[in-house]
Amino acid sequence: MIRLDLWLTLATGEKLRAAELAFGDADFQGRYASAFRYTPDYLADARAFALDPAALPLSEQEFHGKQLDTPLLALEDALPDDWGRRLLILCHSLPRGCQSEPYLLQALAGNGLGALGFYPPGQTPGGEANAASLLELQALLDAAQRLEQEVGNPGNAVIDDTTRSLLAAGSSPGGARPKALVYDGTGQWIAKFPSRSDDVDMVGLEAASLELARLAGLEVPDFRLVELDHNRRVLLVKRFDLNPLNSINMRGRLHMLSFRALLQASGYYVLRYFDLIAALRQHGAQPEQDVPRMFRQMVFNALLGNTDDHLKNFCLLADASGYRLSPAFDLLPDTGDRREHVLLFDLTPLPPSPAELAALGRKWGVSGAAAICQEVEAAVLRFSEVAADNKVPANEITRFAEDIARRCRTERQP
Ligand SMILES: Nc1ncnc2c1ncn2[C@@H]1O[C@H](COP(=O)(O)OP(=O)(O)OP(=O)(O)O)[C@@H](O)[C@H]1O
Ligand SMILES: [Mg+2]
Repeated sequence: MIRLDLWLTLATGEKLRAAELAFGDADFQGRYASAFRYTPDYLADARAFALDPAALPLSEQEFHGKQLDTPLLALEDALPDDWGRRLLILCHSLPRGCQSEPYLLQALAGNGLGALGFYPPGQTPGGEANAASLLELQALLDAAQRLEQEVGNPGNAVIDDTTRSLLAAGSSPGGARPKALVYDGTGQWIAKFPSRSDDVDMVGLEAASLELARLAGLEVPDFRLVELDHNRRVLLVKRFDLNPLNSINMRGRLHMLSFRALLQASGYYVLRYFDLIAALRQHGAQPEQDVPRMFRQMVFNALLGNTDDHLKNFCLLADASGYRLSPAFDLLPDTGDRREHVLLFDLTPLPPSPAELAALGRKWGVSGAAAICQEVEAAVLRFSEVAADNKVPANEITRFAEDIARRCRTERQP
């Protein structure tokens, strides 16, 4: 049995002991029971809000689940995915029997993205030490590339000082690709590295996609490309889960909740963009702004070819005044030639034409849908120019520009 206290860091930097967690021992299949209960002090606090408005409403009841599946997906959100989990295990030298989520939460402590921290009962949260200096970027990238080769065989990994620094800086952000947290005088950034398995310039393409998204009227975090030796580049994206008014000491946090958690989707799911819009209408603090924002993001994804539109690539940020749609992130053209999107547009995973997208917006009651489609299309058609500015190789520009032009054509070839 593992017991943990869940601490919530508010936008002001104050920390509240929000809930108590208990996890049973795993059976031979790795299944374990989980329980969650808000603390009486938290429930009595005027600053309290539900950590998942659908699955964990503020109440005295005890919530039960299996592993970190529903209703506890908000806790799963706090954990990194593939890349970060491997680093967390290496960093804390967790043996095979101690690599399940409760152990990972305990190892993560207060170093995850978002506002949740996990500590043994009775322990007060300490300072976080999860980011490296931007000056170490080159060494971090070298260590990341070394580890990418070695994590398949962790026994062989050489853990020197730089690797240790990468393990600390890289083990909190989610996502599958190599990344780390770095700080400079303006705050904290997520550094997204090239991967050894990339067959296109993912870093340049992601920077170009963020630039296009900004031109298309989407809110995106600050970002910039950093050039390192051997023609390698790293994309820096400013963290949006830290209170910008508090960014120098980096203490104030915003709670992040993915749409995967909010929609209680686990494993294989078949959900539609409309489900995200309906959830914003039901749980959001400002649906009149966030529904058109989500629709704009859907149109952008459809026309750019951002087919990896899974539910962890959309999230909400919360404080006591409610849940709002986060800035857009993890945007790329269709680098895997998948054509089909993860989320359905109405009934199909294939991207509708701009005219069909506008019709969907009207059907769903999205204000200004036709204008949004026109604005996004005009921006996305500037792909070649923006990608060239971001030094994406010419053959890749041609390949993705053709795909985008096809997506923007109203009359489709079968
Ligand atoms: N600017 C940001 N500020 C705070 N959190 C962020 C930011 N960008 C991304 N995140 C969080 O980090 C996670 C990983 O980021 P991202 O999706 O960009 O990585 P990825 O490795 O490309 O993902 P994927 O596994 O979807 O390919 C996201 O799911 C989100 O929770
Ligand atoms: Mg992602």
